[in-house]
Amino acid sequence: MAEPKYCCVTSGKGGVGKTCLAVNLAFALAQQGTRVLLVDGDLGLANVDVLLDREVEVTIWDILDRGTEPEATLISVHPGLDILPASSGVPEMANLGPNDQGLLKEVLQGLAAPFEYVILDTAAGLGSAVLWFNTISDLSLVVTTPDPTALTDAYALIKVLHQSYPCCRFEVVLNSIQDESEARITFDTLAGAARRFLGLDLDFLGSVPDDPVVKQAVRQQMPFLQLAPQSKAAQAVLHLADRLQELRFPRLQRSKPRAQGLKGQSLGP
Ligand SMILES: Nc1ncnc2c1ncn2[C@@H]1O[C@H](COP(=O)(O)OP(=O)(O)O)[C@@H](O)[C@H]1O
Ligand SMILES: [Mg+2]
Repeated sequence: MAEPKYCCVTSGKGGVGKTCLAVNLAFALAQQGTRVLLVDGDLGLANVDVLLDREVEVTIWDILDRGTEPEATLISVHPGLDILPASSGVPEMANLGPNDQGLLKEVLQGLAAPFEYVILDTAAGLGSAVLWFNTISDLSLVVTTPDPTALTDAYALIKVLHQSYPCCRFEVVLNSIQDESEARITFDTLAGAARRFLGLDLDFLGSVPDDPVVKQAVRQQMPFLQLAPQSKAAQAVLHLADRLQELRFPRLQRSKPRAQGLKGQSLGP
């Protein structure tokens, strides 16, 4: 059986739509007939279970801290789609130490084997858990809106990851856009800065429009793909899933991290 493909949904900034996109992308891939494990990588402030209206009894924290059997934490939410939930209100989980990283990597490898995709939803910020989830993934789906603050934070995350872990591969997703031209202009700004200052070529995976159905689905705690499959947002996510399935996923040999200390908050060097 082929190795599962790890896709990390990440952004730098909070509130840009990572969790909504991770949930709906996972749902779309499952609808398209692939088996998907959706991991809540926002380890201290979990949201995936909330968006899917699931009762959670045991989480990643129980596996790491109490030795709970990993399989016992999986929740099947749809044919072909399981979630691995995280805990909420456990601040120490936001910074995953090396021991827990090693343990969680083994847990994920064991759980992921029967799946084709592992979609990892991450927290905001540049904490160790966020960076680590990106480094264990084949692909980082960097979500940004056209807001300058979101764009700046997406660039900062790409910069830190690229400079410390040159093997990270990025696909940009523009969320909450008004039209395609806004998505393109925003992508070009980000890609231009990455090329000029980091010597890095970014790929554009696609965009999701600003659509009131997203908020409605959040309130009703269900994927917008399920609430309104014909909506613009749902159609856009199905298109993203198609694009993802078309991508080649060479399993990358992760290089050792270079020196840290690469902070920077502007679209510059
Ligand atoms: N495409 C969109 N159109 C309209 N609202 C959106 C869209 N994507 C996200 N949102 C809104 O943004 C909020 C935050 O999304 P969320 O996925 O929780 O962000 P993050 O995980 O990045 O913090 C959602 O509750 C929803 O109301
Ligand atoms: Mg989130």
